[in-house]
Amino acid sequence: MEEELLKIKNDASTLIFEAEDTDELNKIKLSFLGKKGILTFAIKNLSKIPIERRPEIGKLANEIKNTLEILVEDKEKALNIQKETKIEKKHIDVTLPGIKPQLGHLHLVTQAIEEITAIFEKIGFERVRYPEAEWDWYGFTALNFPENHPARDEWETFFIDRKPHPKYGPMILTPHTSSGQIREMERRKPPIRMLNIAKCYRRQSDVSHTPMFHQMEGLVVNKNISINHLKGTLDYFARSYYGEERKARIRPYHFQFTEPSFEVDISCGVCKGKGCKLCKEGWLELGGAGMVHPNVLKNGGFDPKEYTGFAFGWGIERVLMMKEGIEIDDLRTLYSTNLDFLEQF
Ligand code: DAH
Repeated sequence: MEEELLKIKNDASTLIFEAEDTDELNKIKLSFLGKKGILTFAIKNLSKIPIERRPEIGKLANEIKNTLEILVEDKEKALNIQKETKIEKKHIDVTLPGIKPQLGHLHLVTQAIEEITAIFEKIGFERVRYPEAEWDWYGFTALNFPENHPARDEWETFFIDRKPHPKYGPMILTPHTSSGQIREMERRKPPIRMLNIAKCYRRQSDVSHTPMFHQMEGLVVNKNISINHLKGTLDYFARSYYGEERKARIRPYHFQFTEPSFEVDISCGVCKGKGCKLCKEGWLELGGAGMVHPNVLKNGGFDPKEYTGFAFGWGIERVLMMKEGIEIDDLRTLYSTNLDFLEQF
């Protein structure tokens, strides 16, 4: 009888210890300590043992009952804590293949920035970045925008709520990378070959605009820089980034900070410049460029009689979409956490 009781104690303790949840624990409790439980049954059978041994065995049986009750109680508490903290007891099967950590990759805009930078570095451009929170002077005034010029509205500028600088005017979130032109001219002497790629901000958010986007700004200043240098650089970029057979062309346009100013087009990769559904006339519009305006050179500290320069400024998102040949239904997806979309690139 004594042995039987000890075996019950052992079996019950092991099962209680290994119970995975409260349901299982309750079943174990019932099967040992319930009305029809194994231990209860054994205690009832005490009458069958010789009378002189009954007190001793009876005491042992009670002790076992108390111990098991305490074990059940403790286990119940432990299971509840586990449930609250969601720590699941898991058996580790060391023979299972490991779980591979998910590997991410650079965002497609970052990939494009790296590729574009490498292309321009090959011909001596230096990648720089200038402040995103910028003074009006660098963003507009020094770039030859007269005071009250509607461009400050056209560019949908964000103004920062702080006291204007006595010399540089209000503080803005830079709406274009052209602000880097003046900063670069202040920083160094010619020859300048700057590639400023940075975040820009404008108050617009719809399917084709995000309030934050990226621009790349080229600036070359030296003696005897002409439109030929600009055109050569544009063709070099078209070939290097879009493909050997692609060409660039320039069309007259207007910008405050360049004279003459141009719009830059890249020959269409689908129809090879013949005209198709995508491009209509064989060319896809990239963005602006021009010869640096004499006033801008002056504001940068250079004598326009001695130095000339060219500049260009394009949206990275546009440059990139033209390469991929993709039309993103809603440009804002680029800056969402939609992994189904982002993982494709
Ligand atoms: N800053 C202009 C914009 O955001 C783009 C631009 C046009 C930049 C002509 C230039 C340029 O450097 O020469 O629309």
